[in-house]
Amino acid sequence: MIKKGDLYYPTKEFRKAAQLNDESVYDKAAENPIKFWEDLAERGIVWRKTWTKAFVHRPPHFQWFVGGKLNITESCFNRHLPALKDKVALIWEPEPLNEKPRRLTYRELFSEVGRFANVLKKLGVKKGDRVGIYLPMIPEVIMAMLACARIGAIHCVVFSAFSPQALKVRLQDTRARILITADGYYRRGQAINLKAAADVALAETQVKKVIVVKRVGNKVAWQKGRDFWWSDLVKKEKSACLPAIMESEDPLFILYTSGSTGKPKGCVHTNGGYAVQSLWTGKWIFDWRKTDIFWCTADVGWVTGHTYGVYSPLLNGVTSLMFEGAPDFPEPDRWCQIIEKYRVTILYTAPTAIRMFAKYGEDFVKKHDLTSLRLLGSVGEPIDETAWLWYSQNVGKSKCPIVDTWWQTETGGILITSLPGLGPFKPGFTGRPFPGIKTDILDDRGKSCPVNEKGNLVIRPPFSPGFFRGIYKNPKKYRETYWSQYGSKIYFTSDGALRDKRGLIRIIGRVDDVIKVAGHRLSTGELENAVNQHPSVAECAVVGIPDKIKGEVPVIFVVLGKPQPEEKIKPEIINQIKKEIGPIALPKEIYLVEDLPKTRSGKIMRRILKRFFTGEELGDFSTLSNPEIVEKIKKIIVR
Ligand code: PRX
Repeated sequence: MIKKGDLYYPTKEFRKAAQLNDESVYDKAAENPIKFWEDLAERGIVWRKTWTKAFVHRPPHFQWFVGGKLNITESCFNRHLPALKDKVALIWEPEPLNEKPRRLTYRELFSEVGRFANVLKKLGVKKGDRVGIYLPMIPEVIMAMLACARIGAIHCVVFSAFSPQALKVRLQDTRARILITADGYYRRGQAINLKAAADVALAETQVKKVIVVKRVGNKVAWQKGRDFWWSDLVKKEKSACLPAIMESEDPLFILYTSGSTGKPKGCVHTNGGYAVQSLWTGKWIFDWRKTDIFWCTADVGWVTGHTYGVYSPLLNGVTSLMFEGAPDFPEPDRWCQIIEKYRVTILYTAPTAIRMFAKYGEDFVKKHDLTSLRLLGSVGEPIDETAWLWYSQNVGKSKCPIVDTWWQTETGGILITSLPGLGPFKPGFTGRPFPGIKTDILDDRGKSCPVNEKGNLVIRPPFSPGFFRGIYKNPKKYRETYWSQYGSKIYFTSDGALRDKRGLIRIIGRVDDVIKVAGHRLSTGELENAVNQHPSVAECAVVGIPDKIKGEVPVIFVVLGKPQPEEKIKPEIINQIKKEIGPIALPKEIYLVEDLPKTRSGKIMRRILKRFFTGEELGDFSTLSNPEIVEKIKKIIVR
């Protein structure tokens, strides 16, 4: 039985059978990380032309496998087809229990990708064009992404639960001329109308063509000449489609994420380096074997869904599972049912989901046979020891290693974790840097922090091949956000961390204005922008506060221009957030206050607002221009 504070290792049997069980990999990689990645790049990826230079560094910019040419879909499909053509690539479980699952073999998925790639070509999509994808968790989202990759178009997936306004901002930024969406999807028994949301977003964008997947049979508005059914288009196409040959450094996709300020940032990921890092991090961290059934629960609209829901399993010839709905619908044990039904062997999920399962209790888990599981993963937010232990004991039956994986949209793939065949695993600690990754924890002056002391987590050159190469159309922001704290050669992660005496890293959380709500990355600035759009709001402040299930949740302090009844204004503010961002950003509470604590120079002291909820000392507020407001706000909160 694993207890708090324990350190443990994989069993002998697990270690023996693991993809990677040789500790010396760390030292070899550290000696020459560039050579290490080059060796990996030579294995498993189909290159049409070998690179001439593995790593080129012009701080703060860098490139990998320069001069190399490839198409990532050749490594996902063509490479495997002779051996794996009839192997299931994707199992899709719909939310409604009475609906049949879909299973697509490698050959079938490849055919659909080719067919849809030909559709895109016919609609005029060319190499380098951006294609918007606003699709739920259905197989077509994978087909659409890979079809883009096949013809060299850049996919820009937008999370389907984001609002029309959020979609619009992203479509405007990428200037996509084509959008792929669906008539809807099922979520908690409801057929959500996605096409209606897309229609609202499309005004004021450059989108000229919309391809719509028929999923739920919703009635949808139709603009002739602009809107096309997916099924009508693909039936006219052949499945063969020659791959566009891409430069290693050509963009593969843009994925938007939240930063400190209001505007989302489009992280640009490239073909060659991303393929290498996706392939090898997946192989070693999830220890994939031929018979594995891998379930990554993340939505494809987030980076985890991109890398470990789509690319990495396909690059490794693995069978993965995609689930359309909510893991606790219609009953709290839906997720256990799925594991049992498909004999899932590896589960990769977020601490919020684990805490939610734990809340429902062990009885739900005990009703099901979860013995197929052999490895568990966690991602997206710090996993507290209690959740870790619950996961290990109740889901992993104390026999499955847990890989807590740290990474970011920007890093493209996992950078810190214990490797399952090597360990050690320590609850609350994410583990060691992946071989070849040079991390450090620095104090504010740039000095390495001693053991057990908190500091800022940074990554040193050569970073990793799968790192993003910039923020779309915003080099200034790229430099300022990531390469200014410690100079242009050290990547600033915006995470606080510490390391123990063995070098295992504990992630403490963001040190910027980003909050992780149920693992979803949101910025308080983005939320404030949304709330400020309401005409009655004079100013507002958003802070993330601890939450037992979701890790963090936003609360909002609002100062109104003129007094309004709470019961009227609060729902309006909620609607404003739903409209601007989507339901994932809804606050736990909205407090109407007469003023916000500010410094004499007018800066809002969010730190003080946060302390009302964390139990920390409120501290000294003599430097505030309005110290009396602190007591008044406190009264409102405890009311
Ligand atoms: O704060 C860290 C947290 O998630 C942030 C990145 O969010 P996003 O770009 O949405 O990517 C999430 C999935 C890769 C990080 O800066 N984070 C991610 N993984 C962990 C984590 N915090 C603690 N432990 C983790 N394993």
